[in-house]
Amino acid sequence: MNILSESEQIPIAMESLGVLVTYPLFPYLEQELLRRGCHLLRLYHSPETNHLAFLRANASSICAVVCDTHVGADAAMIDALPGLEIVSTFSVGVDKVDLVKCKERGVRVTNTPDVLTDDVADLAIGLAIAVLRKLPAADRFVRKGAWKTGGYPLTTKFSGKRVGILGLGRIGLAIAQRAEAFNCPISYHSRSRKPHPNYKYYPSPLDLASNCDILVVSCALTDETRLIINRAVIDALGPQGVLINIGRGHHVDESELVSALVEGRLGGAGLDVFENEPDIPEELFQLDNVVMTPHVGSDTVETSMAMADLVIANLEAHVIGRPLLTPVV
Ligand code: DGY
Repeated sequence: MNILSESEQIPIAMESLGVLVTYPLFPYLEQELLRRGCHLLRLYHSPETNHLAFLRANASSICAVVCDTHVGADAAMIDALPGLEIVSTFSVGVDKVDLVKCKERGVRVTNTPDVLTDDVADLAIGLAIAVLRKLPAADRFVRKGAWKTGGYPLTTKFSGKRVGILGLGRIGLAIAQRAEAFNCPISYHSRSRKPHPNYKYYPSPLDLASNCDILVVSCALTDETRLIINRAVIDALGPQGVLINIGRGHHVDESELVSALVEGRLGGAGLDVFENEPDIPEELFQLDNVVMTPHVGSDTVETSMAMADLVIANLEAHVIGRPLLTPVV
């Protein structure tokens, strides 16, 4: 007789699967992998200078890599793992996985799209409002008791501002839909024109930046989109304009962004991602028109659990020979 309830039953498909974990996992994901009997090899337990030696020493046991936005799967890692069959990243972005190498080697790749769309879009809108209404500075004002000696300076309205979206994919579209509810006219630039007649298409990032008040970066990081926000785009957005980045730090020429903010050539910025996370240019710390979050776009309990379930479902599907749920390669 089976005395475990259905939810307590331990799936056996993944028993003894050798999984390389590149960075400390969300505890629920680690627990679920262990519950399935996976053999976890934790790369982060060895110093970075020793990573290749660690990989070579454990290569014969590793069939799968579970990685994330901190440490992915680069060519050197994939080369060091001849038995590697699948890379499952706990992220929608796959810029830290060498997709070309995976294709060459026949290694499958999965990510976690859709389940995180709402959270990332919510954060983009939150950052835009936080920058325009100067919410962190207002909070500091209250906490330090400054309200007792006078009112807080006027800020800038968000509703009705022209929102430009760079990359009208799943997340870009969710941001557009949210901004529409604030009566913001929406425009966008994407690789191709999309079937959204209410949203105005611009053929280049520069045209988009010249015609919006708030520019939101929500495209994938690829060779084509690296440094897509350059000095010309920043200047086109201008001293009243606001840049929101929930994509990747490498989308933006960060030193140009910093000097534009410091010199007042750009009105403000809401940044969840940076070039060299977690190192942030110190000049930004002084600016009340800049709101920063530590790459937390999808970091809610609910979404992290859904992402973890998707990572596991993809691994399980691979092991039992079923179609992957969210294949990239
Ligand atoms: C991802 O999952 O790629 C994003 O960085 C979430 O913020």
